[in-house]
Amino acid sequence: MAHLIAPSVLSCDFANVQRDVEMINASNADWFHVDVMDGVFVPNISFGFPVIRAINKHATKPLDVHLMIVEPDKYIEDFAKAGADVLTVHYEACPHLHRTIQAIKAAGMKAGVALNPHTPVALLEDVIEELDLVLIMSVNPGFGGQSFIENACKKVTQAKALIEKSGSPAKIEVDGGVNLDTGKRLIDAGADVLVAGSFVFKSDNPTTTISDLKSM
Ligand code: DX5
Ligand code: ZN
Repeated sequence: MAHLIAPSVLSCDFANVQRDVEMINASNADWFHVDVMDGVFVPNISFGFPVIRAINKHATKPLDVHLMIVEPDKYIEDFAKAGADVLTVHYEACPHLHRTIQAIKAAGMKAGVALNPHTPVALLEDVIEELDLVLIMSVNPGFGGQSFIENACKKVTQAKALIEKSGSPAKIEVDGGVNLDTGKRLIDAGADVLVAGSFVFKSDNPTTTISDLKSM
């Protein structure tokens, strides 16, 4: 299967959200990557439900919502109502991860789990069969525009092996510092979905940059 591209709207122009959403609609992108940060799990605050609803109002492609928040269980239904198609929680934020994954699926969404750079892939062994998505963080979450952490390529290979061994349907997504160079290496390692924020939105022609990432 060809890999998917998920531009991160964290790097869009929030004074022109509709314009940037329509650019992604018309591009070769596959998903919208939507980063929710609470200022507690990560040292930054991004946006919440009103902005997600505004994106969803114009988006014609799935919303891939990445929760960088503590106690995500409190808001699962709200994210479904706001338009999330894929809902990803952080391993490090979920003491009852199995229950959280079941609740996401019961709310009608695909369930993902994100791993911080220091969190081993092997910790997913007992939930991998339940997952639709494994999100490997290739930066420490909280900000766009950071440098890629090389260890992510090895973790993609490990996640691929775990998924194949278990027969899990999970896709592997990578988030942080993705460009044409790191993206190519991640695809070669087995990544299925590439998130790209600043590489897309800070480029001269975001539509062309998305096509370049898609056609690698
Ligand atoms: C970081 C976010 C990313 C971010 C990626 O915490 O999860 O999705 O938008 O931005 P770039 O592609 O600029 O590293
Ligand atoms: Zn993200």
